[in-house]
Amino acid sequence: MSMPKEEGLDHSLAFLKEGYEFILHRRKSFQSNVFETTLLGKKAICLGGKEGAELFYDSDKFMRAGAAPNRLVKTLFGEGGVQTLDGEQHHNRKSMFMSIMTRTQLQKLDKLIETEWMHASERWEKADQTTLYDESQLILMKAACAWAGVPLDDEEKRTEQMRHLFESPAAIGPSHWQGRVSRSGVDEWISNLVEQVRRGDLHPIQEGALYVFSWHRDANGELLPKEVAAVEVVNILRPIVAISIYIAFAALALHQFPEEKERLKKGDGSIHRFVQEVRRYYPFFPATMAKVKHDFEWQGYQFKEGTMTLLDLYGNNHDPHLWEQPDLFRPDRFLDWEESPFDFIPQGGGDFHMGHRCAGEWVTIQVMEVSVDYLVNRLQYKVPDQDLSYSHSSMPSMPKSQMILSHVRKVPD
Ligand code: HEM
Repeated sequence: MSMPKEEGLDHSLAFLKEGYEFILHRRKSFQSNVFETTLLGKKAICLGGKEGAELFYDSDKFMRAGAAPNRLVKTLFGEGGVQTLDGEQHHNRKSMFMSIMTRTQLQKLDKLIETEWMHASERWEKADQTTLYDESQLILMKAACAWAGVPLDDEEKRTEQMRHLFESPAAIGPSHWQGRVSRSGVDEWISNLVEQVRRGDLHPIQEGALYVFSWHRDANGELLPKEVAAVEVVNILRPIVAISIYIAFAALALHQFPEEKERLKKGDGSIHRFVQEVRRYYPFFPATMAKVKHDFEWQGYQFKEGTMTLLDLYGNNHDPHLWEQPDLFRPDRFLDWEESPFDFIPQGGGDFHMGHRCAGEWVTIQVMEVSVDYLVNRLQYKVPDQDLSYSHSSMPSMPKSQMILSHVRKVPD
């Protein structure tokens, strides 16, 4: 049987134009959770739905080596990172990440984030207005470095470099090249720290990523090359700073859905469900990608070895077959969510330990919970007139004004 296929030579421009909705539009028009298209001049298969996600995370059928485009590796991922590994090598590296995601470690991060929110809000009280997206990046960077055991030398410069890494992968021209320059800068900074740890000249906290990753041994019992250990430490710092995008969206949701904010204030709603709905509703990563490992057949369709395959992350979170009225912001939908690892997948799906699901999903949820609690219960502020619209095609997306707050005051204890 032949797979539903998009006519035409190449659909890369349509992907850029339709952005997050590119795959879901076609899943709806083909009435199929699998179809074939052409992207960057190559055949690509797009998968969606629960079954599509389950198939995508079958590591006997798909592999990650060579799947990510160069512009992603040179900015967001870094070279030799966990995202590009398969099999035993991936299990070994992923266990290194998951070993620092313990309850005690997460509680430590909570406290660090809370302290940074407190310091930042003291600063904001003295200013006319503040841009939440920028300011939360500083909060997150300081807390992330303290958590990871990384001495932060020039906080503004380093925070900006981290931001370039996640803002630049899909950018064109100078903004993209800025991302590559920042990647070299942060890799060099952290490689030097790894070297110092190994020489015994630097003694970071032993539970933090810098120490753990500097001394981690791969499946052959070897220390990681210092450049790779550095890329992995950045795989902790960079995405923690990227939570600023979700914090900006959470503040937008509190503004756009004031009834939900009121419920949270009264203790009638749940911050956890609110955070889950922010992650479901707003766009972040459109898709993730892998390559077909060996020829196989699925539901009568042929998957040929080496074919690029995209999983529709945004589309699954907005799939009307999986969510009732997916375009409504309704945190209470999570009251009876069955916790499938394949429907709600803003940070990937499947198993944390065995597959490529985001290693920092628990961190993200917790950091957002602390931040939403701060915005709802610990601060008073106004949202002045500004452009709060956000694009469904620029990646990553965020409110255009980056959430300006004014008249910020701490709520007296
Ligand atoms: C800011 C919100 C975040 C979003 C939207 C996000 C999203 C994702 C996505 C979509 C993937 C790829 C899943 C796949 O390919 O199957 C991923 C992987 C990953 N994420 Fe996150 N992430 C976030 C935060 C974090 C945080 C806070 C950390 C670390 C503290 C983190 C560390 C990682 C790592 C190490 C991987 C690679 C996992 C692997 O390949 O096995 N992420 N993330």
